[in-house]
Amino acid sequence: MTPVPSPPQAVRWAADGAGVDILDQTLLPGKEERRVLRTAEEAASAIAQLQVRGAPAIGIAAAMALAVDLANHADLPVDAFFQRMAQSALRLMTARPTAVNLSWAVRRALNATKGASSINEVIAALHGEADRILEEDRDMCRRIGQHALTLFPAGPVGVMTHCNAGALATGGIGTALAPVYLAHAAGRSVHVYAPETRPLLQGSRLTAWELERAGIDVTVLPDSAAAVVLCERKVDLVIVGADRIAANGDVANKVGTYALAVLAAHHGIPFYVAAPTSTLDLTTSNGAAIPIELRSADEVRRGFGRLTSPEAVEVFTPAFDVTPAALVSAIITEHGVVRPPYDAGLAAPVERSPERNEGAG
Ligand code: MRU
Repeated sequence: MTPVPSPPQAVRWAADGAGVDILDQTLLPGKEERRVLRTAEEAASAIAQLQVRGAPAIGIAAAMALAVDLANHADLPVDAFFQRMAQSALRLMTARPTAVNLSWAVRRALNATKGASSINEVIAALHGEADRILEEDRDMCRRIGQHALTLFPAGPVGVMTHCNAGALATGGIGTALAPVYLAHAAGRSVHVYAPETRPLLQGSRLTAWELERAGIDVTVLPDSAAAVVLCERKVDLVIVGADRIAANGDVANKVGTYALAVLAAHHGIPFYVAAPTSTLDLTTSNGAAIPIELRSADEVRRGFGRLTSPEAVEVFTPAFDVTPAALVSAIITEHGVVRPPYDAGLAAPVERSPERNEGAG
């Protein structure tokens, strides 16, 4: 087994420890440029602009940003310090509405400060918790990959994904792309089909970039060509990530995911969702209650730096859609493979023995 090549690091601590160092994903694949965020405001705006993106990665970045923001304001009077902590936490939690990982990570960091009895202890607790969130995510990705790999058929495998649920979206080797990395490392033949993911092209810019970098075969296609690829049986399974999974198994993910799930069902191809349990929102009963981010109309109107629709035309720009649980063949978390009915399976995320399948590599 060849080792998984070291994945790109979407988010890490800055070398001086006083900033959050992100790979600016808006510039990929043309430029590989990193930038350091030193305040909650800078981080929230980088998250809103998708410089750092993907549900797990934005949660990690937010928790780290809260720690550096406050470390850079350690000399404030106590009341002002705690006021800043509340404001910065709120700003970060609300930078984008759909991915539950964002508020999950910030709340977790705040909870970790509960026993602290000085400003320095608060800062140390925030820093320690953000570090744990990052490290745990790396581990969760690998475990998701191992469980998801049991669902891959024997022999050469064709996989369709959507958007980017790879290393660029997490602290590790991704969620939906984790089994792809592991299959490749095990010497198996795997070919990924990456719909471009209009309008911001996370599939063609990011998924294709990170897979090509790792030496994994990838074909980019216009979103509108997905039906042809599925109809021609080029793929054995579809696997995507998630921004929020409701208690009944409805899945919010990048817009276009729902269409892929319908297509997969029509062609009898399994449709899997891979996500850490930090993406589960058991307080939201079903997908209708998941807040869906609407993006600026200009992302559609001025797609390629020029007018791509009439200037004043009305544009509908949801960043995400909700795939009904009925279209999801299985949800893979770090604890194992959950099959319908999801309400019971998701509520008890205990370690399940991996599904066995002839092709498991
Ligand atoms: O708008 P984005 O690029 O942040 O959307 C990302 C997705 O939809 C991903 O599929 C999801 O966050 C899962 S990432 C492991």
